[in-house]
Amino acid sequence: MSKKLIIANWKANPPTLHDALELARNIERAASAHRRVEVIVAPPFPFLAEVASVLKRAKRASQNTFWGDVGPYTGEVSWRQLKSLNVTHVIVGHSERRMLLGETDEMVNKKVQALLEHGLIPILCVGERERSGGEMPEDAAQQLKSALAGVKKVLVKNLIIAYEPVWAISTAPGSSPDTPESVFRAHVYIKKVIAGLFGRPVAERVKIIYGGSVNAHNILSFLIDGHMHGALVGGASLNAEEFAGMIKIASSQSLPLINRSRYRHGCP
Ligand code: PGA
Repeated sequence: MSKKLIIANWKANPPTLHDALELARNIERAASAHRRVEVIVAPPFPFLAEVASVLKRAKRASQNTFWGDVGPYTGEVSWRQLKSLNVTHVIVGHSERRMLLGETDEMVNKKVQALLEHGLIPILCVGERERSGGEMPEDAAQQLKSALAGVKKVLVKNLIIAYEPVWAISTAPGSSPDTPESVFRAHVYIKKVIAGLFGRPVAERVKIIYGGSVNAHNILSFLIDGHMHGALVGGASLNAEEFAGMIKIASSQSLPLINRSRYRHGCP
């Protein structure tokens, strides 16, 4: 069984480098203690280099990239610079960037292509704005299709897709997490879309994770009942103790079934 992915998206947090390093050290300790899970940390750019030097077992991620190489792109950060810091993963198309900063499907597509071409793994976020209660809504499917337009079939298997309904993100007004059942439907739907574009064997290899108010109490239901390969965690990744709890729970998912049962009803 491949390892589950637990990804910390710190967004524009914490306020100081000192806090960032303390959090990173705690996460690194948990990642070293639970090696059956892949832990990935995406700090904000100003802290990335120093936090990266603390992360050994945990992998380094960025919250964004520019699609071009180094050059005249004021305010942007190149995938090449990220690679020089041994960043392995990059979050792309997060709904906060789409809604607050005008990131378009076209920009997301350029970023996905550039990252895959240059050996970095995009964590592609897709998700609808309004709760629908039915099958994964067409706007999220459209984001997925646009992001993958023109991507070489041989590279698609490296992608991670984060299903993140906007209304489920913890900072959204009146938010609440999606249900594992609905997350499972989204999982099936995303696989269907990818299979339609690139064939079933490719779809089977793409990792699909869930994001939106994931915490230590609900993560297991998304991994088991939602059939998710992991979680993209915002708010709860800023609490070292809680995030360590999630790492421990996700790590249990590589254990034989008989040993997993004690994790079913909440925290270990
Ligand atoms: P949340 O954020 O865990 O605070 O809901 C997830 C995300 O926005 O990636």
